[in-house]
Amino acid sequence: MNIDVSKFKECRVLVIGDLMIDEYLWGDVDRISPEAPVQVVEVKKEESTLGGSGNVVNNLAALGAKVFASGVIGTGKNGNMLLKRLGYLRVDAGGVIREHGRLTTRKTRIIAAHQHVLRIDRETRKEISGETLDKIMRFTEKVIPETDVVIVSDYGKGLITKTLMARVVKAAKKHGKIIIADPKGLDYSKYTGVTLITPNRKEAALAAGVEITNNSSLMEAGAKIINSAGIERLLVTCGKDGMVLFERDKKPYKIRAEARQVFDVSGAGDTVIAVLGLCLAAGASFRTAASVANIAAGIVVGKVGTATVSEKELTAALMPRSTPLSVNLRKKVRN
Ligand SMILES: Nc1ncnc2c1ncn2[C@@H]1O[C@H](COP(=O)(O)OP(=O)(O)OP(=O)(O)O)[C@@H](O)[C@H]1O
Ligand SMILES: [Mg+2]
Repeated sequence: MNIDVSKFKECRVLVIGDLMIDEYLWGDVDRISPEAPVQVVEVKKEESTLGGSGNVVNNLAALGAKVFASGVIGTGKNGNMLLKRLGYLRVDAGGVIREHGRLTTRKTRIIAAHQHVLRIDRETRKEISGETLDKIMRFTEKVIPETDVVIVSDYGKGLITKTLMARVVKAAKKHGKIIIADPKGLDYSKYTGVTLITPNRKEAALAAGVEITNNSSLMEAGAKIINSAGIERLLVTCGKDGMVLFERDKKPYKIRAEARQVFDVSGAGDTVIAVLGLCLAAGASFRTAASVANIAAGIVVGKVGTATVSEKELTAALMPRSTPLSVNLRKKVRN
């Protein structure tokens, strides 16, 4: 594939999206609470990472890109922690706005004896204030001239409103920048003008109002979205079945997933949009970018926990497979 992964270090990416903290508590269970008929989890290990659009940022930073992050957080200690983590990644977090009275989204997963037993969400989905929107746009307009690509990572937490989206698209178009989005919700008209969106199969089915059960219903849903939503391209990710790229007036382009042992599929979509963005920033075609993103996501699902892929791993995975010796010999004989 015609892509130089080492070029990703020179890429500059603006990520606008729902920042979160993913918290994991691991523990043992060996008794029932005397207070209520519930299990008692004795916590042995705690960990927290960047989640939501923060995981897209993680993936970009792992490949050496310069990232500008924009989103909304609260004013408390979770917000502080999130900013600190972005700082560790050397991200420009000038577009991360602290809104009074808003919770920083935090998802806590409790894993007891290797079983995911409970998830606790602390979040608000209310729309951002007009003041926050203006601040985000001021940052966007400042950094957009020096970025190569804009990524919108929408997790439906009230940041990516129709108004914000329209203003970001306008700013990207004004400077001739590619803008790609991982969408949420049923109404994709919100993403009008975007260069490409990356729903998974279930999200595409819901947005198109078409139940996807086979190849022909997938084609129908894809065609429906691309013809109605004012979006130039659509990449439907299909888990273990890979992905399909829909481009207007072109035949859909199918990419088979890399067969490998799967440990954890969560976060694969974040890797897809991050690597897709970097490939486009580095000048690749949409087909090449999607194929490389597919390979990168295949690597990530083989790791435990929401993970990232490194330049070394991706370069190795992109190397042409060496031909078995017997095949070489046979070729020689024929020649
Ligand atoms: N079982 C698998 N084997 C190989 N590749 C996979 C597998 N599952 C996912 N992938 C890769 O990851 C990509 C994205 O996966 P998927 O369609 O599940 O996205 P998603 O639902 O948005 O993921 P998530 O929301 O968990 O981040 C796929 O297009 C494929 O390239
Ligand atoms: Mg997804």
